[in-house]
Amino acid sequence: MEANPFPAVRPIDTPMEADDSVEPPVSFREQANRVNRDFRSQTADTSWDRATDVLDWYESYESVRAGDDPPFDWYTGGRLNACYECLDRHLDARKNRLALRWEGELGETRSYTYLDLYREVNAIAGALRDLGVETGDVVTLYMPVLPELVASMLACARLGAPHNVVFAGLSADALAARMDRADSACLITCDGYYRRGDAINQKRRADNARMALDHELHDTVVVERLGEPSLGENQHSYDSLLTEYAGATVEPIIRRTDDVLFQLYTSGTTGEPKRVTHTTGGYLAHVAVTAQDVLDITPEDTYWCTADIGWITGHSYVVYGPLALGTTTVMYEGTPDHPDPDRIWSIVERNAVDVLYTTPTAIRSFMKGDEASPDEHDLSSLRLLGTVGKPIDPSTWEWYYTHVGDEDCPVVDTWWQTETGGILVSTLPGIDVMKPGSAGPSLPGVEAAVVDSDRQELPPGERGLLAIRTPWPGMARELADASEWGRSAAGEEWMYLPGDEAVMDEDGYITLLGRVDDGLTVDGQRIGTTEIERAIVSVDGVAEAAVIGIDRPLTTAVHAYVSPTLRTDIDPLRDAVRDAVEDTFGPELTFDQIVFTPDLPKTRSGKIMRRMLVAIATGREYGDTSALRNPEIVGELERHDDSET
Ligand code: WTA
Repeated sequence: MEANPFPAVRPIDTPMEADDSVEPPVSFREQANRVNRDFRSQTADTSWDRATDVLDWYESYESVRAGDDPPFDWYTGGRLNACYECLDRHLDARKNRLALRWEGELGETRSYTYLDLYREVNAIAGALRDLGVETGDVVTLYMPVLPELVASMLACARLGAPHNVVFAGLSADALAARMDRADSACLITCDGYYRRGDAINQKRRADNARMALDHELHDTVVVERLGEPSLGENQHSYDSLLTEYAGATVEPIIRRTDDVLFQLYTSGTTGEPKRVTHTTGGYLAHVAVTAQDVLDITPEDTYWCTADIGWITGHSYVVYGPLALGTTTVMYEGTPDHPDPDRIWSIVERNAVDVLYTTPTAIRSFMKGDEASPDEHDLSSLRLLGTVGKPIDPSTWEWYYTHVGDEDCPVVDTWWQTETGGILVSTLPGIDVMKPGSAGPSLPGVEAAVVDSDRQELPPGERGLLAIRTPWPGMARELADASEWGRSAAGEEWMYLPGDEAVMDEDGYITLLGRVDDGLTVDGQRIGTTEIERAIVSVDGVAEAAVIGIDRPLTTAVHAYVSPTLRTDIDPLRDAVRDAVEDTFGPELTFDQIVFTPDLPKTRSGKIMRRMLVAIATGREYGDTSALRNPEIVGELERHDDSET
């Protein structure tokens, strides 16, 4: 076996010492969906066989999984419809219970019972069918977090027409490229929406995309969000269709488990966007089972996942998981710190949210100033807190646990990806101890390991690549089909390498260290940018940090972008940051530049756009900034650049 190419620069202070672990609060355990330790020792087959409990199949499947090699066949023989699972089957028991509670950026609210949503979905499905949408046709959806987006997704699912949601902030060109690739002839969009107080003209972008298409767009349906949209040829008002088709019922199309439910492109914070396709049976079962086990959702809950539906987290844990379980899902159109920094807490308070699922980036932005303090809101309805999207460092974890959860709510740090469809690594909140900074063990039925670049397993404590060694139901079709994702050589076991660096402790807890493609090589040592960021944010007075490496002929220049908390004096902070990094990584790691900035460029899903920082630092074209939540920061950073070395 070759030497591990990912040696620890210093012994990593994570995984945590045993006494850093936190037991789940007793009050939570007493009511949790899963409390029995035996639950952890299930086989993969028993674990994923829970698809029979969480879904109502038209025809039961014959086997949970067929085949040990790609393509894996999940729930063979089963027949279902995802819209039926999310709506129809709930009508008997809870037709008048709320399915959606929506809040717009301007503060307006709308609520839909399961019956309301069922009626709207049927009307839209009837309209789409009459517009010529057939089972298998791809329908593109291009709008922000609006109830109509959920209704359109479910209408597509009802017809067996895969949806192709394009994040509302993406440009006309990005929309056209995604529609061309899918040969999608039907688009549902909106006239516009509000973003940080500005009205955005979405229809203009959609019209521009139509001009740029290589194929013909048959129909466009336009949701009215801002006012009267002006409609051209083959453009229909969503509201008029609702009126016209009021009372229509459309039988759900019975689907095979491997029929496509939707396609989606990953956020593309690094490199080119990649198309991922998810199936009806495996995907839906995976998100429903994990929403129940990890997010602890029950039908009585009011649950809020702050993600945008334009990305996978919104698909899986705003729409499909919670609605499959019959809960009330809260949706917010805007960004959680607009117009006031405490918007997130007031939404939790107003809706008496039981379970909150958000990102470490969002949490850190609320740690910045005391005026956004959660202490000033009644958050006592909260029972469980979740995070996703990037590693949560221990200090942010502590803050979330203490200030938001009042030390009474477990925190689940859930690791997964667009490609995995649903959560694969997390503690089970009523069963496992939590280790702040570590996502936790892989879920029952999922075998994870840390391997070197030859795919050889590494012992606990050694950093390497995260590997998933067993297939799971929510795996994207590309992943299940294409052997290049898995096998490297004939005869080897299948494994999936998601592109994350990680270290596992003796208890199987996995600490994520960042994306492989964000790694830096400093003096021949590979260091994850996340680790450096973790050292920086451990400094008092630092709210957020992003680190990038810029390759030069002989070395890599390291730049840090640091966002301080309010009223922090920059000069001492600069020294404190340098000291903290030197303490952790030794004197070889020095910064070529530290830039202090009020904010970092982020996608609407909260990911820091390192690509943008690299472009600014190297003076390269940074192209389209429309995917940014805060495009104004780019100009700000350009001015700051060169300010300090
Ligand atoms: C990162 C979002 C650390 C990881 C669901 C992964 C995380 C990428 C975590 C997928 C976590 C997600 N801890 N890192 N709990 N969750 N990531 O496809 O690098 O937008 O590969 O899916 O986010 O991002 P994606």
